[in-house]
Amino acid sequence: MPEGVQLWNFRPYETIAVQRISGALGAEISGIDLTKPLTDALYAEIYQAFLENQVIFFRDQHMTPEQFLAFARRWGGIHLHPYMKGLDEIPEILELIKTETDTYAFGSSWHSDQMFAPKPAKCTMLLGREIPPAGGDTMFANMYLAYESLSPGMRATLDRLKALNSGDKKRGGGTKNRAERYSGAQGMKLKDPGNIQTDSVHPLVRTHADTGRKGLYLGSHTQHLDGFTPEESEPILSFLRAHCRRPEFTCRFRWAPGSLAIWDNRCAQHYAINDYAGYRRRMHRITIKGEDAPF
Ligand code: SIN
Repeated sequence: MPEGVQLWNFRPYETIAVQRISGALGAEISGIDLTKPLTDALYAEIYQAFLENQVIFFRDQHMTPEQFLAFARRWGGIHLHPYMKGLDEIPEILELIKTETDTYAFGSSWHSDQMFAPKPAKCTMLLGREIPPAGGDTMFANMYLAYESLSPGMRATLDRLKALNSGDKKRGGGTKNRAERYSGAQGMKLKDPGNIQTDSVHPLVRTHADTGRKGLYLGSHTQHLDGFTPEESEPILSFLRAHCRRPEFTCRFRWAPGSLAIWDNRCAQHYAINDYAGYRRRMHRITIKGEDAPF
């Protein structure tokens, strides 16, 4: 673990119990039923745990889609996905399904949600509905730690940089565009893959609006540094990508039906592990609107 890095603050909670699941980030919260309306005091404690741990987890929250949406609205306006189609009856909820025969798994690369959007999602809520008997875990990485553990010289250099982020990896030299990636995935529905502008330039180091801490802001959407050629920026981005994924910066969550994760896209990356071929996984996902740039 890098020296001089503060891992987390222990704070007394009055209503909820918060159990850290790894040294880097992530905490499981118990003692709460999210199907019931949240008081302001309870919401404040949950939000505090969210800021302290970057990703929080709840177990056995078998919410109906309507209850899930009501809970999510407590966190802010709903961010509709720019190119994925939500449930017919509740379009704010995106259903992520990987069937027994699908090979593509949504989110199976290290990323922060919708970095390609001018105003990326602040946080994402993912509720487990059907979970394979083994596999299908999600990993998370703490971007504050990734930034704070770099040398002062490297931090000062990165502080000044921006990067282009794209929702279409083919533009950045990937092998498949968005429509091609989703074509074999039976459960997933695109809105109109041809007509959506999904390129945005954002700072490579992002200052968190609530905590004021700086973190690296990159992921699989990141194509190249702004003002650099892809060849010039790739060595820097490759180094940073590998650095962000160091096991010391991560945690891993094992899902069950009714498990809920809420992660902070402003300071964490995540990765959906695609290791459950032949099994079905079904999740409900809601994203909350983010802040205006610059951040
Ligand atoms: C996502 O990237 O939003 C999906 C994560 C997951 O399915 O575990």
